[in-house]
Amino acid sequence: MKIVCFLTGNKKKRQQVGVAVLFVMGALCLVIILGPNLQDSNEENTGELYQETEFMSAEPLQTTEPPIKCERNFSASKVTGFSGLPLHIQDFLFYRHCRYFPMLLNVPNKCGGPQNSAHVFLLLVIKSSPANYERREVLRKTWAAERMQYGKQIRTVFLSGTSGDGYHKMRLNKLLWLENREHQDILQWDFKDSFYNLTLKQVLFMEWLERWCPNAHFLLNGDDDIFANTDNMVEYLKGQSNGDGNKHLFVGSLAFYLGPIRTRGSKYYVPVQVHESDRYPPYCGGCGFLLSRFTARAIHNMSQSITMIPIDDVYIGMCLEKAGLKPESHMGVRTYLLSVPSQKIDSLDPCHYRDILLVHRFHPYETFLMWHEIHQDDLKC
Ligand SMILES: *[C@@H]1O[C@H](CO)[C@@H](O)[C@H](O)[C@H]1NC(C)=O
Ligand SMILES: *[C@@H]1O[C@H](CO)[C@@H](O)[C@H](O)[C@H]1NC(C)=O
Ligand SMILES: *[C@@H]1O[C@H](CO)[C@@H](O)[C@H](O)[C@H]1NC(C)=O
Repeated sequence: MKIVCFLTGNKKKRQQVGVAVLFVMGALCLVIILGPNLQDSNEENTGELYQETEFMSAEPLQTTEPPIKCERNFSASKVTGFSGLPLHIQDFLFYRHCRYFPMLLNVPNKCGGPQNSAHVFLLLVIKSSPANYERREVLRKTWAAERMQYGKQIRTVFLSGTSGDGYHKMRLNKLLWLENREHQDILQWDFKDSFYNLTLKQVLFMEWLERWCPNAHFLLNGDDDIFANTDNMVEYLKGQSNGDGNKHLFVGSLAFYLGPIRTRGSKYYVPVQVHESDRYPPYCGGCGFLLSRFTARAIHNMSQSITMIPIDDVYIGMCLEKAGLKPESHMGVRTYLLSVPSQKIDSLDPCHYRDILLVHRFHPYETFLMWHEIHQDDLKC
């Protein structure tokens, strides 16, 4: 469930930020309710178009599982009350078991190959639908720019499926192909990129990680509409006792004592047919969280025996719980935020952002501006 994310940087700085900032952030991080992002069902495969390109791995990806098309599970419709469920939920139940989809775009060398992947300190893993071109463009120029930061290597991948039908779908596939040719930062699988398929995207990514970048020390797993102060993240992660990612670390905006929303109209509606229990395990809001490679591996391992539920961050919480690992809040992390926006305080004052780790939700132009502002040498706070 994407509610809000607000992570502050190290303790020293946090005190300087002070209460006023938390207040402002509170105003900024009001619960965001988006309209449903569910697209028409789309079965056809336009992936063949790009099968032979140089951006595919030279090696076939289908070594572990055969490239069979995943079939609809017709028995899913036998569960009680199936016909009364919203169509996207029916659709989810039909395809819930599908965990393998062929890759349309890959960047096998993202981490210098699996053997060299320990050189990557922080891998930024950003879920992004095909049409979100502007968001990706601005992120490449700002917080997701691949670089050395404080002597540590940052690398970036965007995770995508396919959207639309027919020509529209082909155009968007071409767009990603072009972007990947230029930037080599897109991982795309041939499945429908929808809100309810975000867990699938996560699962596919974890497979990828294991295969192509198993030793990157830390990961930021997040959405393409957050503002992440990745400079601060590197600083924060460098300060951890497990500086090479070999111990448990999972921090974000922690939600606990929550359960499925049973209100039909909600974007997060999860009926009993999908998740019977009225409880969710503790989890961190999916707009952004940081984890170590140790924890990423544990999640991946557990995920192999946990049935998918459509809410990706809750699903990760389930994996953590099964692994006996706890997600944590950073001090200063806010989940439910209070307060009222004030005319007197500029909610986009760079001083508030210089010291944070992550905020949801930013427009591309705000991200561009803010990244510039917080890097001004003469910024006085
Ligand atoms: C298909 O759905 C039924 C009913 O929900 C379930 O019992 C069965 O395990 C599912 N099959 C697969 C392959 O997931
Ligand atoms: C998830 O993706 C698969 C493969 O494209 C598709 O068949 C299914 O309808 C999608 N599920 C949802 C809930 O969008
Ligand atoms: C996954 O965890 C199980 C124990 O739950 C362990 O036996 C197995 O070796 C692990 N597999 C991997 C690939 O880490």
